[in-house]
Amino acid sequence: MAFELPPLPYPTDALMPHISETTISFHYGKHHAAYVKNLNDLVAGTEFAGKSLEDVITSSDGKIFNNAAQIWNHTFYWKGMKPGGGGAPTGPLAEALTTAFGSVDEFLKTFAAEAKAAFGSGWTWLVKSDAGLAITTTANADLPMKHGQTALLTIDVWEHAYYLDYQNLRPSYVDAFLEHLVNWDFVAANLG
Ligand code: FE2
Repeated sequence: MAFELPPLPYPTDALMPHISETTISFHYGKHHAAYVKNLNDLVAGTEFAGKSLEDVITSSDGKIFNNAAQIWNHTFYWKGMKPGGGGAPTGPLAEALTTAFGSVDEFLKTFAAEAKAAFGSGWTWLVKSDAGLAITTTANADLPMKHGQTALLTIDVWEHAYYLDYQNLRPSYVDAFLEHLVNWDFVAANLG
């Protein structure tokens, strides 16, 4: 069974004005879709054909890993946003963030600073591991699954995620993501 592009959880214009319909159309309809097509082309006739996406990610490297991980990363990124999201979480998630970072506010500040400072293309994450909650940044397609961590939230800091809307102003995109878009219900569900 071929890998498929998962449906976007909302219409392409749902995150406006913070992320434009044009950005979502290209990011989902071109970039995310291309990773799916590339992976299907790359695994045809190999040991990876027919494996789950997670199995491919944990057992591959090179081009196959890059495309498989980027499919997973983008699907996770879309789910981590919603129209009317952002602000601050409540309940057990807020308690867990306070335990790990001192306060929810301190978490938001640190996450924003990491995402703004990440060098080049990559992803900034909130992750859970045996050591508790942490913020981490991965380069290119790399992801927490490859490092024994569970992803709770991510922001795509590749330029294709924000350049049409914010040009070089990545900090404005990061602030909009945290203030208006984060789907805290999704993050709380990942915390378990
Ligand atoms: Fe992306």
